[in-house]
Amino acid sequence: MKFATALLASVSLAVASLPAIEVNGNAFWNSKTGDRFYIRGVDYQPRNNGTLVDPLADESICLRDVEYFKELGLNTVRVYTVDNSLDHSTCMEALDQAGIYLILDVNTPEASISRYAPACSYNARYLQSILSTVDVFAKYDNVLGFFAGNEVINDMENTTAAAPYVKAVVRDMKQYMRAQNYRAIPVGYSAADVTSNVYQTAAYFNCGNDEDARIDMLGVNDYSWCGASSFVTSGYKNKVTKYTGYSLPIFFSEYGCNTVGDSRAFSEVGTIYSKQMTGVFSGGLVYEYSEEDNNYGLVELDENGNATTLPDFDNLRNELNATSDPTGDGGYAASNSISSCPTFEAGVWEVANETLPELPSAASIFFKSGAGEPLGTDIGDTQWGCYDNNEANVSSSSAPASSSSSTAQTSSSSSSPTASASSSASSSSKALANSVVIPAFYNIVYSMGTNAFGSAIAMLLIVSGVAVLA
Ligand SMILES: *[C@@H]1O[C@H](CO)[C@@H](O)[C@H](O)[C@H]1NC(C)=O
Ligand SMILES: *[C@@H]1O[C@H](CO)[C@@H](O)[C@H](O)[C@H]1NC(C)=O
Ligand SMILES: *[C@@H]1O[C@H](CO)[C@@H](O)[C@H](O)[C@H]1NC(C)=O
Ligand SMILES: *[C@@H]1O[C@H](CO)[C@@H](O)[C@H](O)[C@H]1NC(C)=O
Ligand SMILES: *[C@@H]1O[C@H](CO)[C@@H](O)[C@H](O)[C@H]1NC(C)=O
Ligand SMILES: *[C@@H]1O[C@H](CO)[C@@H](O)[C@H](O)[C@H]1NC(C)=O
Repeated sequence: MKFATALLASVSLAVASLPAIEVNGNAFWNSKTGDRFYIRGVDYQPRNNGTLVDPLADESICLRDVEYFKELGLNTVRVYTVDNSLDHSTCMEALDQAGIYLILDVNTPEASISRYAPACSYNARYLQSILSTVDVFAKYDNVLGFFAGNEVINDMENTTAAAPYVKAVVRDMKQYMRAQNYRAIPVGYSAADVTSNVYQTAAYFNCGNDEDARIDMLGVNDYSWCGASSFVTSGYKNKVTKYTGYSLPIFFSEYGCNTVGDSRAFSEVGTIYSKQMTGVFSGGLVYEYSEEDNNYGLVELDENGNATTLPDFDNLRNELNATSDPTGDGGYAASNSISSCPTFEAGVWEVANETLPELPSAASIFFKSGAGEPLGTDIGDTQWGCYDNNEANVSSSSAPASSSSSTAQTSSSSSSPTASASSSASSSSKALANSVVIPAFYNIVYSMGTNAFGSAIAMLLIVSGVAVLA
């Protein structure tokens, strides 16, 4: 069975490939049928006996889970981080065969834009990492989109200063795909569930004269529907109003509040795929597939990797199955205007103008010759140089050194799943004072790479959502 699957993938027998998903107006479309496409997804980053791994590079993991995805009736999964040096063909093929698209966050804990030292973290080596991830995945038609960043901007006001760097990454990814003659895979940003600046964030990534720097899709992480709520009570109605007129597809890049009761009924599903929402929203992804310390799982994985479904799994499957997509175009908007850039407001939105950082000069070669060999997660000293040394020591134009270089200076884990504040961490994190709870992500150590990422140090960083660095 395993052999047959591997063989199938390696010789690329003629298999029907999913048609690419395209953006038109504020909606997604199936490029073959012309039907509107609504994301019916889950967030997918199962650990392997406690260790964060690339689930798309291990067929014992992905082939196990694709069967559950099919039972849930999914058409999309979001993966927060991968190891770009590994082979993903078997898993990508299995997803394709199951009718499932991928939304991929291109960052890793070791290659991300840092909230607190964004200039330092935006460097050629960082770009080599994420652009080579684009190289690896661009060939798959079932890649729905890439996220250039996740929750880099949160309710710490000074994190808005990182926004121009993330937007520069959007620009670089789009220009890189064009330079390499790849399909123009949609590039998005996944925004934190924070009331203080989420609308400014949405506007910022969809404003300005530089079309390349504007995102193609917006993910919003949203935990507002808790228990037996409603369109109005949850705040969904207010969000539909606020986002009406936004010119791009918006979807929940995480949803599924777990603060009420022992299991989640997912009563929001019927509303998410109703015409109350679909003029503005295009579905969403439930956080998350596997049960982890923060209790958002649909399935429990034991130390041997055996999976058991939890009540949330049955509830979600039943709700999705009872909910059809709206007929026709779902009330989408064909041609809204781009957003106006948010105005500078001290303590709220501290970005003065449209100016973006320039591409680090050492990265320009990628656009001519490609980003080179994917270096996986073994990319060197990462963000530690941004903090431990003076910033001049970690210039933003460092050369894409070899993987053995000790002067690598890729950036922080602040936008990665392993670093965002979790609900369990929030009480201990000064960064989250006054904040809404952001129940995302893992308090765990990323250890699929081989470099010296001291686990105790990483844990400290991760659990406290980078505030420890302040
Ligand atoms: C799972 O991890 C635990 C603790 O790290 C270890 O003791 C155990 O041997 C692992 N189990 C398997 C099957 O690898
Ligand atoms: C769990 O996984 C182990 C190792 O793959 C296997 O031997 C065992 O039969 C599995 N147990 C169950 C209950 O499926
Ligand atoms: C619900 O499940 C049935 C049986 O598997 C299937 O035929 C139907 O298409 C599903 N409906 C939805 C909306 O997924
Ligand atoms: C834009 O703002 C930055 C600081 O945020 C400033 O350095 C730069 O000069 C401004 N550019 C323009 C054209 O106003
Ligand atoms: C950069 O940091 C390293 C490690 O701390 C140090 O050895 C080196 O002297 C620094 N270089 C400069 C130019 O500051
Ligand atoms: C952001 O604010 C925090 C808390 O006030 C502070 O510790 C940190 O140094 C600030 N970061 C920057 C880049 O200003």
